Amino acid sequence: MAGPIPELEERATRCARRLCEADRVLLASHIDADGLTSAAIAAQALERAAIPFETVFEKQLDADAVADIAATDYDTVLFTDFGSGQLDIIGDHEDAGDFTPVIADHHQPADRETEYHLNPLLFGIDGASELSGAGASYVLARALAEEADQSVAADGGAVAVDSGTPARADNRDLAALAVVGAVGDMQASGGELHGANERIVAEGVEAGVLETGKDLALYGKQTRPLPKLLEYATDVRIPGISNDEAGALRFLEDLDLELQREEDGEWRRWADLENEEKRTVASALVRRAVSRGVPATKIESLVGTAYVLCEEPVGTELRDASEFSTLLNATARYERADVGLGVCLGDREGALEQARTLLRNHRRNLSEGIDLVTREGVTHEDNVQWFHAGDRIRETIVGIVAGMAMGNEGISRSKPIIAFAQKNDEEVKVSARGTHSLVRKGLDLSVVMGEASRAVDGDGGGHDVAAGATVPIGREEEFIEMAEEIVGEQLS
Ligand code: C5P
Ligand code: C5P
Ligand code: C5P
Ligand code: ZN
Repeated sequence: MAGPIPELEERATRCARRLCEADRVLLASHIDADGLTSAAIAAQALERAAIPFETVFEKQLDADAVADIAATDYDTVLFTDFGSGQLDIIGDHEDAGDFTPVIADHHQPADRETEYHLNPLLFGIDGASELSGAGASYVLARALAEEADQSVAADGGAVAVDSGTPARADNRDLAALAVVGAVGDMQASGGELHGANERIVAEGVEAGVLETGKDLALYGKQTRPLPKLLEYATDVRIPGISNDEAGALRFLEDLDLELQREEDGEWRRWADLENEEKRTVASALVRRAVSRGVPATKIESLVGTAYVLCEEPVGTELRDASEFSTLLNATARYERADVGLGVCLGDREGALEQARTLLRNHRRNLSEGIDLVTREGVTHEDNVQWFHAGDRIRETIVGIVAGMAMGNEGISRSKPIIAFAQKNDEEVKVSARGTHSLVRKGLDLSVVMGEASRAVDGDGGGHDVAAGATVPIGREEEFIEMAEEIVGEQLS
């Protein structure tokens, strides 16, 4: 595991001190799982440090959004999970005296610096795979706890700080949300989190809010009834089980286990099984995969590290980092960031119920979107493949759909996928997704999206493995030609 990173922590301390000097703070964050968990971490840290604040969410931090922020009368603005890529715009407002920016982000920074800028990429840490926006916010939260503590000591304890238990006073309990953010940004590779993320996991385990262990790497271990867990798990396709309702049922019924509840005959969920039962199901699954000729490397990826939020009730989305992050995307990507934030901040009634309703809708949209793309197919260029969803897939989820569709019939995993969806009457949203193996060969989609979009009067950025852009309607073909050329150079 990576050791502590002193430069990162020093920068966090500098940012935390600046926040402690503010009378009040405007907290601005991005609308996805990582952005929501970033905001929830920052909000709790500010509250515990007794710094008054207000929270706003933006789909995208463009010039208009920054101008709106500048128009408020906040002197200090904390940006989480975005801000680095928009430093040119933000810097202009800073120069004009509109506000002082404090940034906790992990996106590729624009060509400009500012004093209170916390980003792993400034310190040689990979912002796509080692630290997320929520991770950067967590590092800031840890520094804030230290600073607030020190101001208590300096004032002889006059500042009211809600210290709670020792684990809470140092903000380590917020590690659970940081892990949800990292998993939501798909920072886990080879079945687990790496680098700075791993340190956060360790702190969460010490604080008693996280448990980790090798487990079946399927989505839905907490909430899906066993047959659905197996039927819907298609990352590793097991013939006769994946996408096969009757097959999945038969497989489970053939095991010598009581997998249906005695009371009502309902199927149990993975999270309800005893360890011995889990082992039996898992080894039968592996045997079946082997006998059906699933390649060994694929079979290995059936097992991974599970990140369990052990203070949350068994059988809920909140207990599994992956399910939690999808629940959050289901709120924030549908203009209900307030609901997701409520869930992160502990609202286990109204907000959670609303989030679950939104999740059902999100799932339906994802599955319809994936079906659509797979049915209609993508256009293959030499170096990229692409599709245009028009208004048939929401622009806020077209990237998730593109990523999940990769590997389906006709959709290659050996070149990046570029997806277009209508944004409004003038603009088209572009989302691009690659694989970690393409990144190892030189792919950097953040450069591709940035350069290709600016060549057609748009703008974009993001990470090497996942990036996005906005371009004017009608410039899509030109955009693809540019992207095709840049990807060709990167992979040559
Ligand atoms: O803006 P932000 O960094 O939070 O979002 C990153 C996006 O990239 C997420 O939607 C995440 O699902 C996506 N991603 C991906 N595949 C990866 C890494 C990230 O689809 N390997
Ligand atoms: O929606 P989100 O981007 O957070 O999904 C993260 C991952 O969780 C997806 O790439 C997919 O593997 C899995 N997922 C799933 N079924 C869903 C939602 C997400 O398998 N309904
Ligand atoms: O929206 P999507 O999920 O495709 O975004 C993928 C990544 O690209 C995210 O990290 C997002 O913040 C980034 N992005 C960006 N500029 C845009 C659109 C997306 O930096 N105009
Ligand atoms: Zn992020």
